[in-house]
Amino acid sequence: MGKIITVVNQKDESGKTTTAVNLAASLGLIEKRTLLLDCDPQGDATDCMKVSVGPQGPSLFGALTGKNALSELVRDTELRFLDVIPAGVDLFAADRVFAGTPGKETLIRNLLSDVWEDIDYIVIDTPSSLGVLTTAAVAASDFIVIPVYCEPDIMLNLGLLLQTVAGIKKEFNPGMKIAAMVFTRCDSFDEVYRYVPPDWLEGVGKNVLLSTVAKYDGKNVSGSRPAAFVLEDVMSMPAENYLDLALELVRT
Ligand SMILES: Nc1ncnc2c1ncn2[C@@H]1O[C@H](COP(=O)(O)OP(=O)(O)OP(=O)(O)O)[C@@H](O)[C@H]1O
Ligand SMILES: [Mg+2]
Repeated sequence: MGKIITVVNQKDESGKTTTAVNLAASLGLIEKRTLLLDCDPQGDATDCMKVSVGPQGPSLFGALTGKNALSELVRDTELRFLDVIPAGVDLFAADRVFAGTPGKETLIRNLLSDVWEDIDYIVIDTPSSLGVLTTAAVAASDFIVIPVYCEPDIMLNLGLLLQTVAGIKKEFNPGMKIAAMVFTRCDSFDEVYRYVPPDWLEGVGKNVLLSTVAKYDGKNVSGSRPAAFVLEDVMSMPAENYLDLALELVRT
């Protein structure tokens, strides 16, 4: 049975998409059969995989609303072992459409049973909110990966996130585990300690893998959009960091 890994943090620009696409591509590179599920209406992970979705889809929203089977939405990427299910702007309607739907928290888990056969890992990118899509993704997951960008209000955001994830775990998914906390655009833990109390981090680190991903300083990748460093500049430091993270998670 494969594993579902959801990348989550309600804080925008924390590095979710970069972490999801690099983790998924790293797993694909090491020949794990991987599916990247883009749950963010912005579709950044879809764009990173060079998959285009027209205004009418088909996108994940089609499967959530029963218009398409999830398996119909699976698209190839340049990696043989990596496929993607794209997000389209229609997903922006999800919070409104599913607000009153009973069982909305298990929507994604139920859908994934449709594509489950022959997959080792499903990596889910989530939007910067704690709405229906993020909740359903966390409720479907075996593992959570939390990307964190170090900035002054980081502890407030982390407190809210950990409390929310714990609530979803308790109510819908007792077996779920926070697998890793990844400090993005960060060259060392000395930088992290400027914002996160070392004893707090030491406590978290007893159960959760802690890692840093360096800021990309090369020229091959444009800095304004999330990028699959492991595909576009595999010799770069962030590519190495993400490959190491994928290997650690495979050992988990
Ligand atoms: N290791 C890195 N080196 C350089 N730039 C990075 C790195 N990781 C992320 N970025 C940049 O930081 C910005 C935010 O990253 P990303 O889009 O992955 O975050 P996000 O949490 O998915 O954002 P959103 O809230 O918009 O979904 C992007 O411009 C991305 O290119
Ligand atoms: Mg994103």
